[in-house]
Amino acid sequence: MADNSKDLLVGLDVGSSKVVCAVASSISPTSFRIEGLGECQSHGIREGTVVDIQGAVESIRAAVDEASQTAQTNIRNVVAGISGIHIRTDNVTQQLIIKSNEIEQRDIDQLIENSQEGPLAPSMRYLDVIPLEYAVDFNWGIVSPLGMEGKKLEAKLHMITAQSGPCVNLNKAIRRAGLELIDSQLCFNPLAAASALLSPEEKNLGVALIDIGADLTDVAVFSNGVVQYTSVAPFGGQTITDEVAIKTQLSNESAEELKHRLGQVKFDPTKDVDGSFVMPAYPGLGQGKGRVLTKQAFSDIINPRIQDMFENIYYKIRDKGLHNQLSHGVVLTGGGACLPGIDRMAKEVFSMHLAGRDINVRIGRPLISFETGEFFAPEDYSTAVLPSQLTGYSTPQHAAVMGYLYDLNRKVLTQGSRIRSKGKLKTAAEYLKTWFLGNF
Ligand SMILES: Nc1ncnc2c1ncn2[C@@H]1O[C@H](COP(=O)(O)OP(=O)(O)OP(=O)(O)O)[C@@H](O)[C@H]1O
Ligand SMILES: [Mg+2]
Repeated sequence: MADNSKDLLVGLDVGSSKVVCAVASSISPTSFRIEGLGECQSHGIREGTVVDIQGAVESIRAAVDEASQTAQTNIRNVVAGISGIHIRTDNVTQQLIIKSNEIEQRDIDQLIENSQEGPLAPSMRYLDVIPLEYAVDFNWGIVSPLGMEGKKLEAKLHMITAQSGPCVNLNKAIRRAGLELIDSQLCFNPLAAASALLSPEEKNLGVALIDIGADLTDVAVFSNGVVQYTSVAPFGGQTITDEVAIKTQLSNESAEELKHRLGQVKFDPTKDVDGSFVMPAYPGLGQGKGRVLTKQAFSDIINPRIQDMFENIYYKIRDKGLHNQLSHGVVLTGGGACLPGIDRMAKEVFSMHLAGRDINVRIGRPLISFETGEFFAPEDYSTAVLPSQLTGYSTPQHAAVMGYLYDLNRKVLTQGSRIRSKGKLKTAAEYLKTWFLGNF
């Protein structure tokens, strides 16, 4: 089975509804080829958090075994991510007095390390720290202060903290499944999805990425090329299914099936073909046999919840003063973005709040060629010949796992990159050793 000629990257997305394991071989810093993929329904995960370790372990094992077979490889080291309502994010300013006149890499590292020394509740830990911009001697707007002359270095930082418990338990489930989390580090899901989907133009001009999962909706707003805001809300495709189950008095399974068969947000009789669905009897009682639901009626059931979700997201973005920085609009991803018409609702809500501006909304899916299995990075969209046919896993549900692969591949293959590992900076060569070890 082993193929020593390939150095492989493995991404593992342990979601509330499914676990996906993707195996890839690197092509260039922005490109890789998918060698295999395994996916199964997740058990023991609720709202992105492990609630039953054994269930989670079995799901991870099943997805990894399938990926291992399809890629014809052994899998040991994986990169994985996390989301959940326990995650807190904030923008802070940090400063450092420079001893010599010129700013060196160790000054920048020191400033970022100092930012993590502030008081943190004992149950919390740092997940990531992202520099937004720097100032040298009070001149803000500096992207990289390395080599500049000055006495005072300041940085605006996006700090992401998470509760230790969910991180430790996810790590434990991954270990018990016989895997090793690279550097014991977890990525933050919306940032990974953004890496797989957002072009540099979108990040520069301003865009909101909304990843609608099963139990969680992650939001990341970018402008001026960097992330400005992230948040996680306890809402997702499952919330919609629950609403359908309540309104139709169907079981959860039937409501989920109904959603896939009739699912339509903002049904428009002038554009959409109506369809109807003969619903199963009420569970247990055999009542209501032969009830018929139309797409229009289905749409009327789910519209208010989805409208509320986008309204809440908009208000949170507005509270951070970022609502006028969405020139490139909104990108929807995650399985919830597969619901037909959901982009219409996002467009209506965001356009209405933004003084009737016509806000651009697109569905974000990773681009993976059907013929070659090659992943196309968003920064190459404008120059590469994009594939005419995509693989079956070029779907919004796979944005996060492709983002893990993209970020790791890029970090390791970018010459001279320095990688933060367990709080310490490592060289790319040191990191490579831990990365490939075991996946062959
Ligand atoms: N074609 C579809 N139409 C409507 N909903 C869909 C469709 N496909 C998937 N979904 C919904 O997407 C959700 C799953 O999305 P996704 O796979 O992104 O979630 P997850 O990553 O497992 O969960 P989370 O990110 O919340 O932990 C489910 O609620 C499912 O019903
Ligand atoms: Mg997800």
